[in-house]
Amino acid sequence: MKHFLDLADFSREELLSLLELARRLEKQPEPRALAGKILGLLFFNPSLRTLASFQAAMARLGGNSFVINPGHGSWVLETRRGAVMDGAAAEHVREAIPALASYCDALGIRVFAEGRDLASDLAETAFNAMAELTEKPLINLESALNHPCQALADWKTMDDLAVPRAGRFVLSWAWHPRALPLAVPAAAVHMAALRGMEVIVLRPEGFALPEPVMERARRAAAHSGGTLRETSDRDEALAGADILYVKEWGATACYGDTAADAKLRSTLAGWCVRNDWFARTKAECRVMHCLPVRRNTAIADEVLDGARSVVQREAANRLTVQTAVLHQLLKS
Ligand code: CP
Repeated sequence: MKHFLDLADFSREELLSLLELARRLEKQPEPRALAGKILGLLFFNPSLRTLASFQAAMARLGGNSFVINPGHGSWVLETRRGAVMDGAAAEHVREAIPALASYCDALGIRVFAEGRDLASDLAETAFNAMAELTEKPLINLESALNHPCQALADWKTMDDLAVPRAGRFVLSWAWHPRALPLAVPAAAVHMAALRGMEVIVLRPEGFALPEPVMERARRAAAHSGGTLRETSDRDEALAGADILYVKEWGATACYGDTAADAKLRSTLAGWCVRNDWFARTKAECRVMHCLPVRRNTAIADEVLDGARSVVQREAANRLTVQTAVLHQLLKS
């Protein structure tokens, strides 16, 4: 493995073998595997799980890590090409990334969508502009339209729980006070399609996932024997569901228009997952969410604190799958 940027860069068999490695390292840790290796972590956006689990994974393999949060203890970094840097940014990523890369054996970068121009975010403009600045192994810690570490952890979580390969996976939009990025929903539908599941995107009108995101998942489904469709009919989507994967995201019908997005979501506060959403699912239907989640806006306490919720297992699996990713990337 040279980089870990997108599950689509790997065959299904390679991903299954990575998940197998994660399970092996859970049972048989290798505390010296990455002795002397250093992981650099560059976060343009906040994190709890990704930050802590990557540092923990490196330590568990005998390596080390450093963290840079631009503007918080280090220089504010400019990412735009051709910018006249007379504002807050004191340094450009074109200098900063090669410098950081020279201090480490692999570099992880988190940079969310700008949320203004859908075409630019779909093209991963910000992440790709930084990726081209180093030859070192690179890890996507969440970009505009992708979160491969979360997706792999979610795949392992479903395997751990013996969720059938062809089971019904419903990705449901949930309410949030403002527009959130598309990275997790895009990565989740792609992962579930790649796993071979019956994937349904449940969302209100105006919140359909962009066609390139659906097309990518459709291709993965075709390859793995899964299916993909979308609906706004909650009862129909949830009937017989094995997994309800909950996520908040912005209105794609008016991407980048904060006022129009706010108007569209103003009547949708009822899209908060409560126990009555499970009336027609399978009895053992589980609830997934990548976290962080706002209680009683996206998911009610009664669900998050109930037996269906596997959000903590997903979070714990971030450590196990990333341990495998680092092992594959960096072990000599
Ligand atoms: N799910 C996830 O990536 O969590 P953080 O944003 O806390 O890293």
